Amino acid sequence: MREIRGKSLSLLIKEDDIRRRVRELGKEIEEDFSDSEDFVVVGLLKGAFVFVADLVREIDLPARIDFLWVSSYGQGMESSGSIRIVKDLDTDIEGRDVLLVDDILDTGITLREVYDFLKIKNPSRLKTCVFLDKKGRRKVEFEADYVGFEVPNVFLVGYGLDWGELGRNLKGVYAVED
Ligand code: XMP
Repeated sequence: MREIRGKSLSLLIKEDDIRRRVRELGKEIEEDFSDSEDFVVVGLLKGAFVFVADLVREIDLPARIDFLWVSSYGQGMESSGSIRIVKDLDTDIEGRDVLLVDDILDTGITLREVYDFLKIKNPSRLKTCVFLDKKGRRKVEFEADYVGFEVPNVFLVGYGLDWGELGRNLKGVYAVED
């Protein structure tokens, strides 16, 4: 049984299932953006770095890849409702087709705010893709255009998701047991 800081982890999504689903998502995105002349993938640090790395290799289109690092004010397992830009984009997205990628959509507060922040930069298209979706937890109205897996309301680690900075390098997704 895997553990982080004395808490047991139980496997929720296996590596093989992740690989298969990421491939499907990549192909779907490739088709939808096949008419794009200027495609930019924007990943949210730190959680989306693993998903972005796998996803972009399943999208056979010329793509710029950039990362935006935002942090929510406050600490703990839940987003506090207001974000701070830690690192802005290096890429100018004006007039470009952008896919915003995050690890998990929970209350929706982070993606809602980041979406609005990117929209001001005038991309010609802005779509969103999340690896995981905790649909039942939404506090603001926000749905992603592409979703890897719907997950229950339990704290998750692995495949980029962390618990106190640990667990990001796990190949599967695990629930942290209470
Ligand atoms: P909101 O609530 O703004 O949250 O949609 C999105 C951000 O909250 C973090 N988050 C999690 N991180 N396991 C994690 O490691 C989880 O189960 C979890 N739920 C939310 C995450 O940073 C995400 O980008």
